[in-house]
Amino acid sequence: MAANGLIIDFENAGLAYGDAPETLSDVTLQLREGEFRFLTGPSGAGKTSLLKMMYLAHRPTRGRFSLFGEDASNAPREALPPLRRRIGVVFQEFRLLDHLTAFENVALPMKVAGINQNQYREDVSELLNWVGLGHRMGAKPPTLSGGEQQRVALARALVSKPDLILADEPTGNVDPAMSERIMKLFVELNKLGAAVIVATHNLRLVQTLGKPVLRISDGRVSRAPGAGGAL
Ligand SMILES: Nc1ncnc2c1ncn2[C@@H]1O[C@H](COP(=O)(O)OP(=O)(O)OP(=O)(O)O)[C@@H](O)[C@H]1O
Ligand SMILES: [Mg+2]
Repeated sequence: MAANGLIIDFENAGLAYGDAPETLSDVTLQLREGEFRFLTGPSGAGKTSLLKMMYLAHRPTRGRFSLFGEDASNAPREALPPLRRRIGVVFQEFRLLDHLTAFENVALPMKVAGINQNQYREDVSELLNWVGLGHRMGAKPPTLSGGEQQRVALARALVSKPDLILADEPTGNVDPAMSERIMKLFVELNKLGAAVIVATHNLRLVQTLGKPVLRISDGRVSRAPGAGGAL
């Protein structure tokens, strides 16, 4: 972990796609160990784009970004995978592999990391049970509903016990009871030490949980009025 407890540290960062004007401008924000933030803003505001910079899919086109205390804006490519492995990402569009079962999808990050199945089999089953899919572990994604696929994606993001959890609209396809259960899981994992950022349009849940809110509008990130916590 970074010596100063900073997990995410953007300084005047900007992101432009190709020759288009910047999608995100002057992003200066910090996330410390143990912090939880919601990320809100209208569709197209740049929530996914900001998360993509955080999980190193895009580098800022301007400014500086440090992740776990390492300068990620200028680091060589080969320095990025070890940083990425410490992040669990719930993608907005799930990104499951259709030819693998739910169990195999969730197990994949562990398998790729070279870990023996004996060491993760129980964790994978437990997580799938927890998200209500214990009876569907052998099913392939095309045979699952949207909400079930979302829950598989959630389990996959969490199986490696990441230091940083980035979730992009993780309750977009599930019912209110499951949404609440998922959000409570993030809160529990946060209590256990993971830093968490959840991008969501679900303002009811945001209000219920009372965590600080970052809002993106007009390409800029600001602290939402009334929400606690420092930027
Ligand atoms: N790969 C890309 N190339 C060009 N433009 C992009 C790309 N990805 C996103 N954009 C543009 O960047 C802007 C922000 O998109 P982004 O997906 O970050 O928004 P969002 O806040 O996540 O929206 P939503 O709530 O609909 O998920 C949009 O105008 C989008 O068209
Ligand atoms: Mg998005």
